[in-house]
Amino acid sequence: MKEKVKVAIIGCGAIAQKRHLPEYLANPAVDVVGYFDNNLSRAQALAQQYGGHAYTTLAALLADPQITAVSVCVVNQAHAAVAIQALKAGKHVLCEKPMATSWSDCQRMVQIARQTGKKLLIDHNQRLIPAHQAAYRLLRQGKLGHLLTFKTTFGHSGPETWSVGGKNPWFFDKKLSQSGAIFDLGIHKIDLLRYLLADEIQAVWAQTATLDKHSPDGQLIGVDDNAIGVYQFGSGVRGTVIASWTYYGPQENSTYIYGSQGVMKIQADPQFPLQVIFRNGQHMNYQWPTSKVRSSGVIAEFIQSIQEDRPTILDAAQILGSMQALFASLKSARTGQIVSLNPA
Ligand SMILES: NC(=O)c1ccc[n+]([C@@H]2O[C@H](COP(=O)([O-])OP(=O)(O)OC[C@H]3O[C@@H](n4cnc5c(N)ncnc54)[C@H](O)[C@@H]3O)[C@@H](O)[C@H]2O)c1
Repeated sequence: MKEKVKVAIIGCGAIAQKRHLPEYLANPAVDVVGYFDNNLSRAQALAQQYGGHAYTTLAALLADPQITAVSVCVVNQAHAAVAIQALKAGKHVLCEKPMATSWSDCQRMVQIARQTGKKLLIDHNQRLIPAHQAAYRLLRQGKLGHLLTFKTTFGHSGPETWSVGGKNPWFFDKKLSQSGAIFDLGIHKIDLLRYLLADEIQAVWAQTATLDKHSPDGQLIGVDDNAIGVYQFGSGVRGTVIASWTYYGPQENSTYIYGSQGVMKIQADPQFPLQVIFRNGQHMNYQWPTSKVRSSGVIAEFIQSIQEDRPTILDAAQILGSMQALFASLKSARTGQIVSLNPA
């Protein structure tokens, strides 16, 4: 049996507690041995409940030679610095999305991962959702014919119902998040479309707006709570990405891809996460057991990629194009102009 991977978690908030930690604990190839959070009590609470050590500084955690891999689950603004520090300390890194808050930081992260020879994965869990994996395969088989357009949406009621920060979370603070719904949710779908279409974005026209979220002082927050973008791919396929923190009913997390032979509806119907409806009226419906859908698959992918020293679709280098399109979207929203991209 392969040696277990000894893991530590940096940033012990909602995503660490709800996804990373449960999936590490359920993975027989992993020992969770450490935690760090700027708020020490959060690291201590996890250490007490699940075992392992709560470090008082990041440097102390990274200096511990037993730790070979870390999850970086801190605020957006700190992703690059913490991930780079961890890579330089010889750790493999699974970093939360969005990868970083500037294009130069994204490039530097990939460069340092190459130099150190350590894995750097970005948690684009949408790529691994079973319906997206199946859609990817069907698209490669050409089932939809010639691809034409898409529309994709990710919206919920906002991070204040999710983050450990409660009603006024760091997500609303531009200094810590850089941007709002587009950074939090839009990046998932921009990246998903690049993955599903196996193509690069060539141009974007986007709008961001702050429509409804308020700070405690009654002012609208300093980042967008809604974003809408039109994205054009190299093949000529084009469509819309909508990201929203103001869907106060049920969340929406769907993607439609239209081709010359029909339409693929992904996560549009709760019963059938993937449906293909052909122009001749034929339907194909796909379902997966809940157990397969419940785990993000990201932790298993991170650990296997370390143990088998193999490439992964979550490799940071593969996410660069998504980040370039994300920053282009912000530029377009700022200037009102269509922004063209030169592939990284
Ligand atoms: N992949 C996904 O689907 C997904 C879902 C939710 C959140 N996220 C991402 O995960 C990251 C964390 O979000 P969250 O929802 O857990 O937020 P959160 O507010 O619930 O928790 C953040 C935690 O990080 C700690 N922290 C902040 N800066 C730190 C630093 N420099 N060093 C150590 N600890 C620090 C905070 O004290 C807090 O405990 C964000 O980048 C977010 O975009 C990803």
